[in-house]
Amino acid sequence: MKFFIDTADVDAIRELHDLGMVDGVTTNPSLILKSGRDIIEVTREICSFVKGPVSAEVVSLKADEMLAEGRKLAAIAPNIAVKVPLTWDGLKACKVLSGEGFMVNVTLCFSANQALIAAKAGATFISPFIGRLDDINLDGLDLIGDIRTIYDNYDFKTQILAASIRTANHVKDCAMIGADVITAPPNVIKALASHVLTDKGLDQFTKDWAKTGQKIL
Ligand code: E4P
Repeated sequence: MKFFIDTADVDAIRELHDLGMVDGVTTNPSLILKSGRDIIEVTREICSFVKGPVSAEVVSLKADEMLAEGRKLAAIAPNIAVKVPLTWDGLKACKVLSGEGFMVNVTLCFSANQALIAAKAGATFISPFIGRLDDINLDGLDLIGDIRTIYDNYDFKTQILAASIRTANHVKDCAMIGADVITAPPNVIKALASHVLTDKGLDQFTKDWAKTGQKIL
């Protein structure tokens, strides 16, 4: 399973990249706002060291304008995945942009039928939002499972990019279900390494080692 990092914070991406944890990056208008950076400039900086897909999102609501924005974003680097919303206009833009050879990430997916139609429109990635479904007491992981079944039934090549990941358990569950990619904020990726028994065990070993009076170096 590939790890994309869901942020436009370049320092945070670099830290994880140096550990080999970054297969790609996703951004959205809210993350660009949070970064305080210009979208073109920050996306270009991310693409200077991340070689996997870097999603940059269009903001227009009309297909024609999405196309113009998408082509401009795609010109930043060859590894840009143009992110379009799962609307009828977004699907039109997806069809054209994928036909032109660009990677397209169809975002804001909340149902299996939306994922089905995005695959028909040639999406490279479909982004179902787990956390936002959980927020309204629906089961985001059920959606990942449903899409996996549908895509496998018909051998769709669209990759399932599980998004709106909030917890380490979301990551594990997505891996069990067979999502192709998860995109998660840096703190969730770091939480994958944590376990209370690791901390407890290390504390005990450190105390016992001190009692031996020995040194390795
Ligand atoms: C995905 O591409 C989105 O940027 C992201 O995962 C949304 O997550 P949120 O629901 O935590 O904002």
